[in-house]
Amino acid sequence: MPFKRKDLLGLRDLAVDEIEHILDTAFSLKEINTRSIKKVPTLRGKTVIHLFYEPSTRTRTSFDIAAKRLSADTYSIAGSSSSMVKGETFLDTLKNLESMNPDIFIIRHSASGAPHRLAARTPVSVINAGDGMHEHPSQGLLDMMTILEKKGRLDGLTVLIVGDIAHSRVARSNILGLNKMGARVVACAPPTLLPADLSLMGVEVCFKVDEALPDADVIMVLRLQTERQQQMLLPSLREYSICYGINRSRLAKAREDAIVMHPGPVNRGVEISPDVADGPQSVILDQVTNGVAVRMALLYLMGQGESSRAAAQREESV
Ligand code: CP
Repeated sequence: MPFKRKDLLGLRDLAVDEIEHILDTAFSLKEINTRSIKKVPTLRGKTVIHLFYEPSTRTRTSFDIAAKRLSADTYSIAGSSSSMVKGETFLDTLKNLESMNPDIFIIRHSASGAPHRLAARTPVSVINAGDGMHEHPSQGLLDMMTILEKKGRLDGLTVLIVGDIAHSRVARSNILGLNKMGARVVACAPPTLLPADLSLMGVEVCFKVDEALPDADVIMVLRLQTERQQQMLLPSLREYSICYGINRSRLAKAREDAIVMHPGPVNRGVEISPDVADGPQSVILDQVTNGVAVRMALLYLMGQGESSRAAAQREESV
């Protein structure tokens, strides 16, 4: 089944069969990452440009590894080392890069909607690697892959998201994706860290984490996104940690087979204690491993998209 989209901007846009197709592809490509020679020629001759205007460890590295393992050529532009510091506009920068004929742009930006602006103005495929407080679709996909791998299904599971949901693009992509795939999503945070539109998104809200834990199959812990908070939303980090931090005694209230997830970066001792982050129920590093496979799947499907879209157009015109 060809992937017919030019861009991946968010999980809101994707149908269930498209999500399933990406995850199936990721599961089949994952094995390449365990070979002694971790490289296949699938995207030889394709060019991927990373445009990271915000810090990243996992997303940037895993997209780069994913592209290289598929034999694509990759180039990186960081905000601080681009000519934008000399006054060039975002769109001028992108039009100049587009003139070098890349196949895929991967963009992370602090402004919600920046990847959409780019995608509307370029024939190059665009993948959103996290835009402001909006979406982080590859993270949502790798989280769903990890849940599927550990639990065997998404449909009917209860996923408890604990933390700064209001400022989290990871939470938004997970909510959109998990809802489509039939999971029950419960959000737990102080009221100042919950967005207003949660019930419209089909999410149940809970203010007391101890009451929500016993039902959870998956506990997804989020960092406090202080870089996006405009004002003091909590009395103190210590109080947040006491009321909402996932530590060993709190985790004992959950089922023994509940898994603990975190997209990273982790603030140990704030939203999660080190013994839980490193404990037997944690799948945090499995998420990172699956991140490479999911990003390989996206690059593979979208890198081939140009030829399959052209073939589909030819078929339609016959
Ligand atoms: N999860 C995530 O997006 O991590 P990075 O910010 O390190 O890419």
